[in-house]
Amino acid sequence: MTDKSNVDEHTEASEAQIAVHWKEEQYFQPSQTFIEQANMTDPDIRQKFGEANFPDCFKDYADMLTWSTPYTKVLDTSKPPFWKWFVGGKLNASYNCIDRHLAQYRNKAAFIFVGEPEQDPPVAMTYQELYVRVNEMAALLRDFCGLKAGDRVTLHLPMTLDLPITMLACTRLGVIHSQVFGGFSGQSCGSRIQDSGSHVLISTDAYWRSGKLIDHKVNADIAVQTAEKLGQHVDKVLIWQRYPGKYSSPTPMVEGRDFFVNELLQKYAGKQVEPVPMDAEAPLFLMYSSGTTGQPKGCQHRTGGYLAYVAGTSKYIQDIHPTDTYWCMADIGWITGHSYIVYGPLLLAATSVIYEGVPTYPDVRRPWRIAERLGVNIFHTSPTAVRALRRAGPEEPRKCGHHFKHMTTVGEPIEPSAWRWYYDEVGKREAVIVDTWWQTENGGFLCSTIPALDAMKPGSAGPAMPGIYPVIFDDNDEELVKGSGQAGNMCIRNPWPGIMQTIWGDDQRFVDTYYKRYCKDPQSKDWRDWPYMSGDGAMQAADGYYRILGRLDDVINVSGHRLGTKEIESACLTVPEVAEAAVVPVMDEIRGRVPDVYVSLNAGSTGMPGSGASADVVDRVIKACEDMIGKIARPRQVYIVPDMPKTRSGKIMRRVLGAISNGLAVGDVTTLANGTVVEEIRVMVQGKHAVASTDAIPEDIAKFGQHD
Ligand code: WTA
Repeated sequence: MTDKSNVDEHTEASEAQIAVHWKEEQYFQPSQTFIEQANMTDPDIRQKFGEANFPDCFKDYADMLTWSTPYTKVLDTSKPPFWKWFVGGKLNASYNCIDRHLAQYRNKAAFIFVGEPEQDPPVAMTYQELYVRVNEMAALLRDFCGLKAGDRVTLHLPMTLDLPITMLACTRLGVIHSQVFGGFSGQSCGSRIQDSGSHVLISTDAYWRSGKLIDHKVNADIAVQTAEKLGQHVDKVLIWQRYPGKYSSPTPMVEGRDFFVNELLQKYAGKQVEPVPMDAEAPLFLMYSSGTTGQPKGCQHRTGGYLAYVAGTSKYIQDIHPTDTYWCMADIGWITGHSYIVYGPLLLAATSVIYEGVPTYPDVRRPWRIAERLGVNIFHTSPTAVRALRRAGPEEPRKCGHHFKHMTTVGEPIEPSAWRWYYDEVGKREAVIVDTWWQTENGGFLCSTIPALDAMKPGSAGPAMPGIYPVIFDDNDEELVKGSGQAGNMCIRNPWPGIMQTIWGDDQRFVDTYYKRYCKDPQSKDWRDWPYMSGDGAMQAADGYYRILGRLDDVINVSGHRLGTKEIESACLTVPEVAEAAVVPVMDEIRGRVPDVYVSLNAGSTGMPGSGASADVVDRVIKACEDMIGKIARPRQVYIVPDMPKTRSGKIMRRVLGAISNGLAVGDVTTLANGTVVEEIRVMVQGKHAVASTDAIPEDIAKFGQHD
């Protein structure tokens, strides 16, 4: 059966119009005050990092590091796409982050730790103290655990100082750390232990989250059992104590396997460990990419190139000076935290804030109180956090006396209205904003404005970073014309120092996932034949700014038309009452797939679930989708939900909503921040006694029924 109105829609709306409906926004200029103090003000910087100077341009970043042996070659492309950066060079990460700063900054805070309980005062750790702790921990890892360069060790630590101390202690020895996000389950941790081949797990007894002291030791036991079942034996489990000297978990320690770090450390008091000079190409850490289906991917990052890229981008884009107090609200368990809480700020001798808890505990003014108290002047967070904080407390930032010079948004497209709130209210129109686009695989930013040089444009990540040469391919693998405003597959034509080396233990999967599709000639030794495929949709506007449209695997195919879920969501977000929106594909007999929309509303909105006004909100959400994208994007249903199911890191679990919408079982939701809301939503959508579908389920839908 043919639906005439839809057919008309198809011919009227181009792919790009469907995918790219945020209108072009006005530009915002950085303030003179910011420009005067900025690290990067050279208007020729992109030209200096242009193709004519590639790859030597990246020497600029490598020079920000201290090398124990200088490199002899900037880039070796002899085995594509396994690029080698700064070949022949040797260096040590912990030396670069700590030792070299001691002469000048010994008693300056490297980290300030803010525990979630607000009555506990913040704890500053100086570079000197960090040096002592990292050395002692390195001695323990070496002498008690027998770890040496090249070994892997899995960390499953929450946001306390123990985490960067452990990471840096590993790097002092050349041990490869694999930090698993603290909010992940013991099972996820176990599978990552197995994949990385770790014999040692480093965890903690407990940590604070939303006012509760959570038992984390229990996850260590599950992790070890899971790894064991998968064939990987863990012989030592090291447990930090949230309150040293006191065990805060009800889960018993296992004799002969589990050890308290602070007890062991007594033996290593004052021990110093020479930093091991590591080859520039030696792996520095593994970071497993966040939960899609199948085996977790261990993104393997190299020492020299990664550190160089993170130092360069932290200096030019984050505008970090040693005098800055910098707060990135991400979790160190994600790549953002590795690059821009630990390595970047420390390489530049800044003070980096580590906050243990949730941003809205005990109330939504908490982040602004922390910023004011600590004198934070650089702030870094995600659109999800911006939306959540705006939703619950739009007026709160202006009541606090903080002042930022610089703010970052990362992780998802930010809709212009959220951007403006961030700019007006959080930044008080004083702070520049950088919208940084990149991925776990990339090590550091790929697209962003350079804050003192480029105007900001809400909703756009900005131009490519210096030394990054993007290309967008259409579905027929043709290059789109630069600045065409057409949507396509975002790729990077050239290697850069921050790109991952490979997927741990799976070179073939690395090639297949990122390079196979656009490689013109698998025999070619020319990097120009090996574009990196990001897996994101993007468009480039005439001004050269890129707008990221979300994962291509988040695309919904409606009657053969591809609709970005992110695009539909942003349309929903134009309805003032809507605080958050999530769109999932639902199987539809006629159109293949149709979008289902879930929205949560701003506090105080009149359309709360069940209220009379909700029908009006639903109508306006549908209208927004139709008006901004086309009738093709009309949602099957709009559900107003009390809250979105979210991971502890704040990402909306579309998987859960997709399962509900498609009549599938929701699976394990125990690791969610708010698991109880799932049943409420399920009953709302499926009714009390829904039976999970047993029909053959097509693949794109089945992914919602699979659980990690
Ligand atoms: C998305 C996080 C729009 C994108 C650093 C990418 C963004 C995925 C942005 C990577 C941005 C990241 N604007 N989308 N500024 N930054 N993304 O690996 O879809 O956790 O592919 O790395 O987040 O997420 P990941």
